[in-house]
Amino acid sequence: MSKRLYIETVGCQMNVLDSEMVVADLKRHGYELVGSPREADTVLFNTCSVREHAEEKIYSALGKLRQAKERNPEKTIGVMGCMAQKDQQLIFQRAPFVDLIVGPGQLQQIPTLLNNIRDGQGRQLAVSLGRKSGSQERIRRSHETFDPLRDPSMRPTPFQAYLRIQIGCDKFCTYCVVPMTRGPEQGRSPEQILSEAKVLADQGCVEITLLGQTVNSYRYTDEAGQVTRMSDLLRQLHEIEGLRRLKFVTNYPKDMTEELLQTIRDLPKCSTYLHVPAQSGSDEQLKRMRRGYTVADYLEMMERIERILPDAAVSSDFIVGFCGETEEDFQQTIELVRRCRFKNSFIFKYSVRAGTKASERMEDDVPEEVKTRRNNELLAVQDEISAEDNQRFIGQTVEILVEGPSKRAQKKKDDGPLCQMMGRTLCDRIVVYDGNRRQAGQFLPIEISDATATTLIGRVKTVHTGPQLFQLQGTGE
Ligand code: SAH
Ligand code: SF4
Ligand code: F3S
Repeated sequence: MSKRLYIETVGCQMNVLDSEMVVADLKRHGYELVGSPREADTVLFNTCSVREHAEEKIYSALGKLRQAKERNPEKTIGVMGCMAQKDQQLIFQRAPFVDLIVGPGQLQQIPTLLNNIRDGQGRQLAVSLGRKSGSQERIRRSHETFDPLRDPSMRPTPFQAYLRIQIGCDKFCTYCVVPMTRGPEQGRSPEQILSEAKVLADQGCVEITLLGQTVNSYRYTDEAGQVTRMSDLLRQLHEIEGLRRLKFVTNYPKDMTEELLQTIRDLPKCSTYLHVPAQSGSDEQLKRMRRGYTVADYLEMMERIERILPDAAVSSDFIVGFCGETEEDFQQTIELVRRCRFKNSFIFKYSVRAGTKASERMEDDVPEEVKTRRNNELLAVQDEISAEDNQRFIGQTVEILVEGPSKRAQKKKDDGPLCQMMGRTLCDRIVVYDGNRRQAGQFLPIEISDATATTLIGRVKTVHTGPQLFQLQGTGE
């Protein structure tokens, strides 16, 4: 029987990593990847529940498969990830032709569950325990993931990889569904993390991005009571030969300590890109969100970052139109963005999520059109800042890790060796230049000649060595 797999992934980096694991696992069970649901006999959706829009997209993609399933009942359709954990049986009700529902903690069961379906055992569902449905230990176990299985072909590029160091979240921000879908916060053991990082480096990875919902809160206590914190982990990972860059997302403001920032400063492989979502610039709103810090705390953290890592690039997330947000609250958010001058901000309109404190106790009272207006306004302020700040790179030379053809080059059908290439600096700034596809995976110096709000534009810097002039790594021109 043929085993042709198509997988579609939405949501955060955790999901990208999970899909990589599932594909590695299924390939080991004889599956091959195909490029569209039409060619596949197994279609999997790796889903996100963070906002309603993300869920609607999946239900609509599922709807499109209804007819194909009617024509070919052998086609297996599965929903995995956060929406599977959150909606469970509800997915069977809304999309009765779905065969498989698997939560983020049960992904390792997918090959077996698919076999059960093929054997005629009917629909399969495997999800984790709810946050109050058992002992802490059993709940934790049910959310564990199976990270050591990796498949380089599923990565964004062969030389970059995600590495999960923390599962779940215990912060329980009142708007957020993640503590329910991903379960309790648990740090993975440093031994597991280090051995996985070594495997990745041996496979040719030069850049690893450590993943956690509040990655800088990472903590692991071993049986002897020895505690490993984020800064200890970074120091150990820094030793791995072959690795050249260490990134980590997402940071929690309260845990951006002096000690962690000094560690980042002292370890040259550490990225100085710090994604530390503020969510709002109003104390009243931060309290309702239960973020656990005030605007003054956040500003104090910014001051710490500027003092210890003056070249760091800080970015943020904001939710506009959260319950009770007044025009004044919103102005305070604008004010915070102006003061902090973030590299960039991800801005979201508040979306009510069933099962969260906010959905139970607060009214979603900001009209949709007001959310949209605030979203656009904040975006415009941030864009102006990003555009201004990027100007100062003009004339400078930055080092980038070349990732591959730029978005513009990808849109063109031409697949010749020369095209516009894209890479990132150590602090995550996007750089494009005219180059050669072969340069993917190389570190190159780029002299910046122009800049927009999102992108620096430049050319490969040529270096003089005596009377000769040659181009570093060559653009092929
Ligand atoms: N763990 C990360 C964020 C995970 S979710 C952190 O705490 O920073 C990514 C972003 O989605 C959040 O930072 C928040 O800005 C946004 N978000 C989460 N729940 C949301 C909701 N119900 N409506 C709108 N945006 C939301
Ligand atoms: Fe959600 Fe808050 Fe946890 Fe981030 S820290 S995942 S926003 S509950
Ligand atoms: Fe979405 Fe789950 Fe990530 S809800 S943002 S895919 S942890």
